[in-house]
Amino acid sequence: MSLADSLSSLRAESLSAIAMLSSEEWLVDYRNEILGKNGKLTEILKGLKSLSDEEKRGVGKHANEIRDELSAAFDDRKTRIELADIERAIASEYADVTIPYSRTDGSHVHPLARVRDEIEDVFVRMGFRVYESDEVTTEYANFDAVNVPATHPARDMQDTFWLEGSGNVLATQTSCMQNHILRTNTPPIRAIIPGRVFRNEAIDATHENTFYQVEGMVVDRGIHIGHLKYTLETMLSEIFGKPVRTRMRPGFFPFVEPGVEVDSSCPFCDGVGCRICKQSGWIELVPAGLIHPNVLREGGIDPEVYSGFAFGLGMNRLAMLKYGVDNIRLFLDPDIDFLRQF
Ligand code: DAH
Repeated sequence: MSLADSLSSLRAESLSAIAMLSSEEWLVDYRNEILGKNGKLTEILKGLKSLSDEEKRGVGKHANEIRDELSAAFDDRKTRIELADIERAIASEYADVTIPYSRTDGSHVHPLARVRDEIEDVFVRMGFRVYESDEVTTEYANFDAVNVPATHPARDMQDTFWLEGSGNVLATQTSCMQNHILRTNTPPIRAIIPGRVFRNEAIDATHENTFYQVEGMVVDRGIHIGHLKYTLETMLSEIFGKPVRTRMRPGFFPFVEPGVEVDSSCPFCDGVGCRICKQSGWIELVPAGLIHPNVLREGGIDPEVYSGFAFGLGMNRLAMLKYGVDNIRLFLDPDIDFLRQF
């Protein structure tokens, strides 16, 4: 067989073998066998010696082309094997995180987490987007941006943990997110912001220094107090698992005008009067109102064009009512007997 023929058959043989190799190790071995220092190609080229200069040039050129072609074929095969490995790993390690899990291990969902999940669920179905609240925030976001300037007496309503030297505070209210939401969205805005908040409280059965709120905000053209009432009534009915009514009384919060206290008809006696609602038939539950023009303006939104409502729901209080918990301190207590009930 001539040198040229040997080269051609090495080429054909190698190309079909490469196409069949399915592991990187085999590929490395085979590459050595063909293109390595003592490989078959080198072996064939040893025959060059006996050729004339002109023949050497022709065969040498052919040999270089074959080396390049085989090299490329090895590289290409390597990439394919790597991709196949990745695909196999993805297929075999795939986990469907949307499958509902069953709690067969005796573990429990904390009552606050449960209430938060339910609240998020209702609001997401109504087209709201869920944001997470900052736990460390700025004095500006927590107070100034929501219409509570430094000299405003309402600062005294929230006994704040100040962080030394930074001008930052532990969020005293999820309202601290309002400015951020307004600045980073264009109306229509529908957002809820669950989060943990902190106040320097004297602790008793209904006051903690750490508790949970859900802020809600809707901003669009023509938003009025009726939208607020409908939204809260829908949410509360879902959470209590039965239709409830709401009523509104005036309430003062610097970030809303008018501000209201929204009472729910007592879900335990359906408004007749019982121990839980102190015989009144109503339970004070959600402070709310129409967003103050100053707050919209500070968030870059024109109050002449848009209006909105906001509310700030206390999740601890809601969970206490829903699950009949009579001491707020239990939520932060690692008391297994308490937690096992949920
Ligand atoms: N941020 C208030 C608080 O922590 C609760 C609140 C009241 C939030 C009225 C609101 C609102 O958005 O409109 O006491």
